[in-house]
Amino acid sequence: MHVVSVKEALEGKVEVGSKVEVRGWVRTRRDSKAGISFIHVTDGSCQAPIQAVAPNTLGNYQNEVLHLTTGASLIVRGTLVQSQGKGQAFEIQADEVVVLGLVDDPETYPLQPKQHTAEFLREQAHLRPRSNSFGAITRIRHAAAMAIHRFFTEQGFVWVNTPIVTASDAEGAGQMFRVSTLDALKPPRTPEGGVDFGQDFFRKEAYLTVSGQLNVEAYCMAMSKVYTFGPTFRAENSNTTRHLAEFWMIEPEIAFANLSDDAELAEAFLKAIFKAVLNERRDDLAFLDSTVGKGIVTQGGLIARLEAFVQSSFERVDYTDAIEMLKKSKKKFEFAPEWGNDLQTEHERFLAEEHIGRPVVVMNYPEQIKAFYMRMNDDGKTVAAMDVLAPGIGEIIGGSQREERLDMLDARMRKMNLEPEHYGWYRDLRRYGSVPHAGFGLGFERLLVYICGLGNIRDAIPYPRVPGWAQF
Ligand code: 4AD
Ligand code: MG
Repeated sequence: MHVVSVKEALEGKVEVGSKVEVRGWVRTRRDSKAGISFIHVTDGSCQAPIQAVAPNTLGNYQNEVLHLTTGASLIVRGTLVQSQGKGQAFEIQADEVVVLGLVDDPETYPLQPKQHTAEFLREQAHLRPRSNSFGAITRIRHAAAMAIHRFFTEQGFVWVNTPIVTASDAEGAGQMFRVSTLDALKPPRTPEGGVDFGQDFFRKEAYLTVSGQLNVEAYCMAMSKVYTFGPTFRAENSNTTRHLAEFWMIEPEIAFANLSDDAELAEAFLKAIFKAVLNERRDDLAFLDSTVGKGIVTQGGLIARLEAFVQSSFERVDYTDAIEMLKKSKKKFEFAPEWGNDLQTEHERFLAEEHIGRPVVVMNYPEQIKAFYMRMNDDGKTVAAMDVLAPGIGEIIGGSQREERLDMLDARMRKMNLEPEHYGWYRDLRRYGSVPHAGFGLGFERLLVYICGLGNIRDAIPYPRVPGWAQF
């Protein structure tokens, strides 16, 4: 008896005619007049279910098999055979169907086998992984994460785990969630020498990190090529289809590098991920594509779009030139483009989709709209910042060359009303063997929105955290 996943069974990992055991959940059951039930079983290993053929000669046919409904759990043991039916190569001729858990009230089971709306599925966050769409997204998310680690490993990067609880506002934008000590910890619990947390556990204001960048810069100044990949938090108005309060970010940092090296890395990186997803999860991309407009996918043509991206070469445009392009265009924008203002999503999409028609790296933004750590350019007005804009979404990556000169960093901080004293350890990096360095940040869920053509970023993460979030 070979215990196999649905994927292994469908791929013919074991020989036709051998005995197999598959464990999973019922997607659908259909009974023929001849007294045979066709049960489609899934286990999350791939998009397609395997068909188990259960004859009425099974001992538990009447009182168990005929009660199987969508969502019920079971073990099927039988012979792997070539399928007579359309759409699948193999099926299992069942000798035994062990019913593990029936569905309490099949009529009200939320995940009926039909197309559900995105809103409905979000209210069922604990059950939505059972839907075909979330199965696909979850597998794609995994494939993309693994491709990211693989890409960096192959390029000689070291993964650094930066802290989630921090005292520094890495973006200087004041969007941090405060971490407060549980009341249970104070007053001190043991009278004889137990831990006395005093006023507060950390004895200073602590927050959830908005970015691991500052910490990873420190490791970059020793390990040369590093990256973080972990959760980050922002208390901004995230009541949009593009913002989460909790999201995962990938932040590479490279030493002895400038903005051009950074843009080159971003391009190679995105293409490597898309290639991997196209190779490994084509079935899921094709499935999501087939649901466009019906559920959570709002942009179709997924495979073609990723293939075009992988084939393209990125265009590099100076921010100042981008503003000129926008001004000269005949397009009516809601917000008029103006030098000194940040690009709006409508501007970004126009540049990447209509005007240039491929991924664009916009470089050298006005200093007043960019973070304190970005390197001042010789013009004294712009900083060495870049945003990568992708057709169909707009900004997907934000990065910069970092200010490695202590006097310039201090001046920029003061200009932005940040106290250099609060960034003592970060300033040390400019005092002890400073080198030019650069890096970028990619929001993992923004990437998944793009890959999967999702209409809302809340469907790119298993449990979205957004304003007013209440359960799960
Ligand atoms: O542009 P941001 O704020 O840049 C940084 O945090 C830098 N420290 C990155 C670096 O240079 N190391 O954020 C980076 C990316 C954005 O491009 C976007 O993809 C994503 O993070 N992002 C969000 N994703 C989901 N929800 C939010 N609220 C996000 N805010 C930013
Ligand atoms: Mg940004």
